[in-house]
Parts: sequence; C-alpha cells; structure tokens
Amino acid sequence: MSNPSILILPGDGIGPEVMAQVTRIIDWFGEKRDLKFDVETDLVGGAAYDKHGVPLSDETMARAMEVDAVLLGAVGGPKYDNLDFSVKPERGLLRLRKEMDLFSNLRPAQCFDALADFSSLKKDIVSGLDIMIVRELTSGVYFGEPRGIHKEGNERVGVNTQRYTESEIARVARSAFELARKRSNKVCSMEKANVMESGILWRDVVQEIHDAEYPDVELSHMYADNGAMQLVRAPKQFDVIVTDNLFGDVLSDCAAMLTGSLGMLPSASLGLPNAEGRPKALYEPVHGSAPDITGQGKANPIACILSFAMALRYSFDEGEEATRLEKAVEKVLADGVRTADLMGPDGGTPVSTTEMGDVILAALDASL
Ligand code: NAD
Ligand code: IPM
Ligand code: MN
Repeated sequence: MSNPSILILPGDGIGPEVMAQVTRIIDWFGEKRDLKFDVETDLVGGAAYDKHGVPLSDETMARAMEVDAVLLGAVGGPKYDNLDFSVKPERGLLRLRKEMDLFSNLRPAQCFDALADFSSLKKDIVSGLDIMIVRELTSGVYFGEPRGIHKEGNERVGVNTQRYTESEIARVARSAFELARKRSNKVCSMEKANVMESGILWRDVVQEIHDAEYPDVELSHMYADNGAMQLVRAPKQFDVIVTDNLFGDVLSDCAAMLTGSLGMLPSASLGLPNAEGRPKALYEPVHGSAPDITGQGKANPIACILSFAMALRYSFDEGEEATRLEKAVEKVLADGVRTADLMGPDGGTPVSTTEMGDVILAALDASL
C-alpha cells in the first residue's frame, strides 16, 4: 500500500518559515515512528501569483482534491495588497476551502499551564482553558451573492450578502454536536438572531438538529456580540462554540489571545467523510503571514506544528502520535522555551523559529 499523501502549501510571509519546522517533524515521524508520508510541496497565495499570475493554479487545486491532507502556512502580505480582488492571495485560500467543501473549521483554543501568565487576561480567567470554536467555512457573507462594488448615482456602493441554507447550517451543527459528545457534551451556538434573518434561521436549525438527533447534548444560544464579551469575561463557561463564517473568524482571533499568542492557534478544516470515512481536510494555523516579523526568525511555529498534530488525529487516525506531538510542545513550553511573541513583561531571551523546532524535536526524541 502507498503511504498517505500530504500536499504542503507554505504560502507567503512567515508561512514558509513555520512550515519548515513542520517538515522536519514530518520527517521525524517517518524515521522514528515509521509513519511515512508522501509529501509534495506547491505554491499558494502571493507565491503562486508571482509564478502563475493566479493565487492558486488549477493543477494545485486538482492535487489538493486528490491528497489525503493539505497543510497550509499562510497567505497574503503588503506586496499584494493592491492587486485586483480576484487574484489576491486570500482568494487562493478561499478557493481551496470552497472547492474542497471544507465546511467545518475546528479552531481549538487551549491555554497551556506554562503560558497562563502570557495571556492579556488574568491568569485565573484562562488557566486550564480548553474550548473549540467550530466555524462554518464555505458559506455566509464570504461567499453570498450578490456581491461587488458598483456605482449608484455619484457614489460607490460595496455589497456583500449574508446567506445560509438550512442544509449548510445543519451540517456544521452536526459537526459541532459530534465533537461535543467527545468533549464536555456542551454546545453554545452564536449568531445575531436579534437583527438578522439568517441568524433566526441559524438558531432554529441548530435547535431542530439538536432536538431530533442530539438531545443528550446541552445546547445554549447566544448573540455573537455578547459571545465576544463572554469570551474575554469568562471563557471557561464554554466548551464547543458553533458559529458562522465571519463571526467565527473574529471570535477565533479573540480566543487566540486567551492562549497567550496568535502564534499558538492551530486549525483543521474538514469536509464530509468519503467512502473510507475520511474527510477532505486542510490544516493551517489561524494566524496570517505576519509581514511585520517576516524574515527575522521570530515567528512562532507552534500553531503550524499543532495543525499537523490535528492532521495526525483527524486525517490519519494517529491520535496517540498526535498526543505525543502535543505533549512535546507542552513540555518545551513548561521548560520555559519561548519565541518572541511569548515574552512576558519580565522579558527573557527568545529562541528563533528554528530553535523552537530544535527543542520540539528533542522533546519528541525524549518521548521514545
Ligand atoms: P497576522 O495574523 O498575519 O498578524 C497579526 C499579528 O500577530 C502580527 O503582529 C504578527 O506579527 C503576529 N503573529 C501572527 N502569527 C504569528 C506567529 N506565528 N508568531 C509570532 N507572531 C505572530 O494578521 P494580519 O497582520 O492582519 O494579516 C497579515 C496578512 O496575512 C494579510 O494579508 C492577511 O490577509 C493575511 N492572513 C492570512 C491568513 C491565512 O493565511 N490563513 C490568516 C489571517 C491573515
Ligand atoms: C483566517 C483568515 C482568512 C479568513 C483570510 C486570510 C481569507 O483571516 O483564516 O482566519 O478570513 O478566513
Ligand atoms: Mn482570520
């Protein structure tokens, strides 16, 4: 049998820097755990635009549909800010999500004990935090029609449309309820049913799916603005949060700071399972290309590394190896190893991106 296949798309900015550490870790699993992958690397975002004039070529898109998992670094950057909207780096990522039908985006926010002092919130608010934001990823205002910028009389009008079908809401709700059953059996659904019809439908459908299929799961509903406030007031009240594409984008960046740094947050974007029970999947850190620190060896590779741990768990049925990797990360943090984004008020000497990779590999060695 051939090895499972991975398509690596490092992208732009710090994407290639953090992905270089993931590549070393993939090699480690091949050598030390006999977990071999067929890895190929390709371009996405600005890097793809520079070569092909588009942020994702049709060939790369086709490979993404074929492989067992895609790992992506980050896309975008100031060099590309003035490009035509249709070829902006971000469009490459959105095309991958849409065409692979990756409707369920899991964004776990976990506060490692060693980092409880690094959050911008008080330690007792965040210590022990372990929540999962499930963000709908293929619909809503990101994709709704009509959209565009047009002229009305003398002025320009920008239009985007928030649109959700019942089935789109139902499938992401199921994904959240399934996850909740493996965690603390609790889901909070967030929308703005007080001002948006799509929010009313969202609330109704989530409730219907709950009553018909998951009555054992504790379900609550919250307006998303209150949800943002509750996330910083008392985040530990939540276990699984399910929400739409745009609210999920904003709420997950907000949740990132509960963990100490945006450089810590991984994500998995999953589609429906195929005949073998495997979902199409893309794994990527929540953070972007971080132009302000690109090329300086300052990027924290942990979000990208933990995204690979999610790939081990959700695409390759290697839950134990995923835990091994997560424990290695936890160990180096407990030992006080920190990249620059994790410097507390007392300072200290940060390690570089590559040095963080070195110590995580050493911790993996020590786990054998
Ligand atoms: P960003 O996430 O790139 O950066 C926000 C801040 O967090 C910056 O100060 C950055 O230095 C810091 N940061 C982010 N990741 C870090 C890491 N791993 N280690 C240390 N510090 C880190 O967001 P932005 O500045 O709003 O966006 C920059 C570009 O990235 C834009 O073009 C945007 O569209 C794109 N973007 C891409 C993705 C993605 O590819 N998934 C996600 C978000 C933003
Ligand atoms: C994210 C990013 C993307 C989004 C952009 C880069 C398209 O912010 O993954 O969180 O808005 O979904
Ligand atoms: Mn975002």
